[in-house]
Amino acid sequence: MTDPIAETVSVVVVDGDERTELSVEPGRNLRRVLLDVDLSPYAAATRRLNCGGRGLCATCGVRIRDGPPPDHWHDRLAARFGYPRLSCRVTVRGPMTVELVDKRVWGSRESAGGD
Ligand code: FES
Repeated sequence: MTDPIAETVSVVVVDGDERTELSVEPGRNLRRVLLDVDLSPYAAATRRLNCGGRGLCATCGVRIRDGPPPDHWHDRLAARFGYPRLSCRVTVRGPMTVELVDKRVWGSRESAGGD
């Protein structure tokens, strides 16, 4: 019998002083994982005004430590120059730490409570 726990990987999400550890099935899209647990990668203004995860709007950026190598042109440039990577272009394949980015320039990031 397969142990379902062993089929997940640890994704630690750092949001300011808070850390949340998630168990994620490999192959899931990072943006979708974050939205599903109300840890939005978006600023308040872009929560609804975004490209829906198609890699076009550059509003879903997060900082990733020990994540997968980039395989999207924007993500490659972001990683190369130290900018936040597009969470919609990242597939969870192994353990990683994700730091949510303070996006006050676009209005503060929407919290789980929507305020
Ligand atoms: S949601 Fe638009 S680039 Fe990621």
